[in-house]
Order: sequence, then C-alpha cells, then structure tokens
Amino acid sequence: MIIKVCIGSACHLKGSYDVIKGIEKYLDDHHLTEEVILKSSFCLGKCSQAVSVEIDEKEIVSVSPLTVNEVMDKVMKG
Ligand code: FES
Repeated sequence: MIIKVCIGSACHLKGSYDVIKGIEKYLDDHHLTEEVILKSSFCLGKCSQAVSVEIDEKEIVSVSPLTVNEVMDKVMKG
C-alpha cells in the first residue's frame, strides 16, 4: 500500500505535517510500517478540501490531524 500526503501550500497550512506524523504513529502503533509506504506529494488538485491524501490511487480529502486515526481505521479495515 502506498500513502501519499499532499504537502502543497493549502494542505501545508491545514496541517499536512501533523497528518504525516499522525499516520506514522498509526502505522507504528499497528505494526504496519513494513506494509505501507508513506510519501509526501505535491499538490493533488483538491486544495479547497485540504488536507488531501491518496491511498493506492484513491483520494481522501479533508483529512485533519484530529481525524487521521479515524481515516486510517476506515482504510485499513476496509
Ligand atoms: S495543496 Fe494539497 S491538494 Fe493542492
């Protein structure tokens, strides 16, 4: 699985750095660091719905540092 987090300016302002940190912690806590490649990405074209995250080519928008665990739970269990 490849997860890309947008670090373009709109997403940066909405906390993409903290979203990345949150995903890293989630992967660590769930022993998933071997199975998931986490990358940063330039603008994914959904700036008005920052923070944008792409997981295996599927876009998830409006991720925030507060909802990152919830989003990861949905993705990993779905
Ligand atoms: S800056 Fe993140 S989608 Fe454009």
